[in-house]
Amino acid sequence: MATLELRNVNKTYGSGLPDTLKDIQLKIAEGEFLILVGPSGCGKSTLMNCIAGLENISGGAILVDDADISQMSPKDRDIAMVFQSYALYPTMTVRQNIEFGLKIRKVPKAQIDQEVERVAKLLQIEHLLARKPGQLSGGQQQRVAMGRALARRPKIYLFDEPLSNLDAKLRVEMRTEMKLMHQRLKTTTVYVTHDQIEAMTLGDKVAVMKDGIIQQFGTPKEIYSEPANLFVASFIGSPPMNFIPVKPAGGRGRWHVPLATDLGQLSLPLAAGDADLDQRELILGLRPEQLALAAEGDSAVLQARVEVTEPTGPDTLIFVTINGTKVCCRLAPDLAPAVGEMLKLSFDAGKALLFDAKTGERLARESKTPAEGSAGNVAQFRGR
Ligand SMILES: Nc1ncnc2c1ncn2[C@@H]1O[C@H](COP(=O)(O)OP(=O)(O)OP(=O)(O)O)[C@@H](O)[C@H]1O
Ligand SMILES: [Mg+2]
Repeated sequence: MATLELRNVNKTYGSGLPDTLKDIQLKIAEGEFLILVGPSGCGKSTLMNCIAGLENISGGAILVDDADISQMSPKDRDIAMVFQSYALYPTMTVRQNIEFGLKIRKVPKAQIDQEVERVAKLLQIEHLLARKPGQLSGGQQQRVAMGRALARRPKIYLFDEPLSNLDAKLRVEMRTEMKLMHQRLKTTTVYVTHDQIEAMTLGDKVAVMKDGIIQQFGTPKEIYSEPANLFVASFIGSPPMNFIPVKPAGGRGRWHVPLATDLGQLSLPLAAGDADLDQRELILGLRPEQLALAAEGDSAVLQARVEVTEPTGPDTLIFVTINGTKVCCRLAPDLAPAVGEMLKLSFDAGKALLFDAKTGERLARESKTPAEGSAGNVAQFRGR
C-alpha cells in the first residue's frame, strides 16, 4: 500500500510533437482506487506507462509515499501493471506467465503454487494453465494478464482496461471480484476503463481526461452530480445528460428559463442571485432521471408529445423535443406512455445544471440562499 502523487507531470513523445500529458496533478491516498477515463488517444495508457516507468516523463515528478520515483527503473518501483495489449510471454505457458514475477523475486515454490492456484480460481482460468497464449481467446489472454499482476502484492496496481475483451456476463462477475479483492487487499490502484458502470462503481476517485489534460478529479458522485464542464457532463452518464439551449428571462434575482414544446411552455425559476444571465449563451443540463411524470399538484409541469420510446428492461427511455432539442427522459416501464401520446413532465430543477455555452464551464451553484430547502424546485446558481 502506498500513496501516489503526480506533480505537474508532462510528457512529449518528441520535439515538434504536441504534449501528450499536460501538467497532470493527482494525489491518491493509501489504498485508494482511482479510475481514469477519457476518449481514445487522450493519454491514459501514456500516463500508466509513465507511472510504471516504461516511459520517461518530460517534466514534473511522480511520488510514491512522498519519494520521487521519476528516475527509478521500472523493476525497482514495485508496481504491477496489466497492459491494454496483454503483453504475455508467447513461449511460456499460462502458469509460467503468472509465476514469472514471483520467480524473479525468489518467492518459495510452495507459495508460488498457492498464488497461481488462487488467481487462476479467481479469474476462472484453472483449465488453461498448461496452454500457451497463442492458444487462448482475447478474453482468456486478458485474464491471464490480470493473473500475472494479481499474483504479486506490489505497492501499486495499474490496470489498463483489464476487462475490455470479456463478454458481458464475465465482465460483471470480474467487476465484482475486483471490488471484493480491493476491499480485502486495499492496494492502491489506478484503473483505466471506458465502461461507465465500472467508473462509477469501482472508484473511490475518478479522473476525467481529455487531450492530455485532467478535466476533473473527484469522487464518482461529484463527477456525476457536479461536473466541472460540458465535456465531463457529456462523457459520464448513460444515457447522457440532456443539454438544452436556454435564454434566461426576468432580471437580477428573479431569473427564469423558458422551456417550450409544441404543446406548451414552462418558466423554470432560477435562484441565480445577481448574475447577468441574459448576457450569456447558456445550456441547461438535465440528466434523464431528473425528468419525471408530473404528479397532481406539481408546480413545474411541461406538456410534450412522445416521439420515440426505447424500452431497455429496467427503464423505458422516452424522447421529446424541448427548445428544439431532443431530450431523453428515463421512466419506469409500466408508467411509460406510447409514441404520439401527450406527456406531462415535471422537473427536478434543484439538481439542474447551467453551463456557459462559449467556455463550456459550469456556473457555480448558489452555496446558501433563502430559497434553498424552502422553495424546493428552484435551480440555484451563483453569478460569475
Ligand atoms: N510511442 C509513441 N510515440 C508517439 N506518439 C505516441 C506514442 N504512444 C502514444 N502516442 C500518442 O499519444 C497519444 C495518447 O496515446 P495513449 O495510448 O496514451 O491514449 P489512450 O488514452 O490510452 O487511448 P485508448 O483509449 O485508445 O487506449 C496519442 O495521440 C498517441 O498517438
Ligand atoms: Mg490506452
